[in-house]
Amino acid sequence: MHTNLSSLNAAIAGKTEAEALAVLADLFPGEVVFSTSLGYEDQVITDLIYLNNINVKVFTLDTGRLFNETYLTLQKTNNRYDTKIQVYYPQTAAVEQLVSEKGPLSFYDSLENRKECCFIRKVEPLNRALKGAKIWVTGIRAEQSGNRQDMPQLEWDEAHQLFKFHPILHWSFDKVKEYVKVNNVPYNPLHDRGFVSIGCGPCTRAIREGEDFRAGRWWWEDESKKECGLHAK
Ligand code: ADX
Ligand code: SF4
Repeated sequence: MHTNLSSLNAAIAGKTEAEALAVLADLFPGEVVFSTSLGYEDQVITDLIYLNNINVKVFTLDTGRLFNETYLTLQKTNNRYDTKIQVYYPQTAAVEQLVSEKGPLSFYDSLENRKECCFIRKVEPLNRALKGAKIWVTGIRAEQSGNRQDMPQLEWDEAHQLFKFHPILHWSFDKVKEYVKVNNVPYNPLHDRGFVSIGCGPCTRAIREGEDFRAGRWWWEDESKKECGLHAK
């Protein structure tokens, strides 16, 4: 599979984000999927996909702990593009056991507990959502965190055995905001209240001027540990 990386890179070289998505969708019909958290960046990609009628399955992981504003954004997005974004949920038995045994706020107690919750609510459902996919599209931007800085736009994901494509990897936050504004893209109203990267309600807070993009995620943890496992290597 690795051997294809250079030919895929050649196929998308010099293309716009939408053109590159369309090329990949043509090369892998029905096997390109996009994971959306319904945040600013992901809304840009959703807009590109639907406006250009690109054959990509769009899905979101509903952890069961999302903000109400995120559900509003999901509904607004479905209405706007006349679509139904596919929603994946955690396994009932796993969530029931977790919350019954450890309570509803176990993630604040230790890194181990937090990762357990993220695994049950996000990672396991993600693995199901990615089944059969050859290309996984994300809204990751290099600026978001230290370990995203050197990511290539197209990469081989050994863990999931597929290619990952980050169409707006090199966009600035201002460019994302501008795109959303100019194209009147529906967005999560929490962005107007200081929220930048938006995940689960109990694990996300607004950031202050000058704070890091991901400072509002799992803010009680060490900087180096703030990944939920979705994009772990
Ligand atoms: S996370 O690893 O910290 O949770 P982040 O919020 O930065 O991820 O988002 C990075 C990318 O991961 C998003 O652009 C999106 O592709 C994917 N992602 C994050 N959360 C979700 C979610 N709840 N559902 C689907 N995709 C998600
Ligand atoms: Fe659980 Fe928080 Fe991870 Fe959401 S972000 S899955 S609530 S630990």
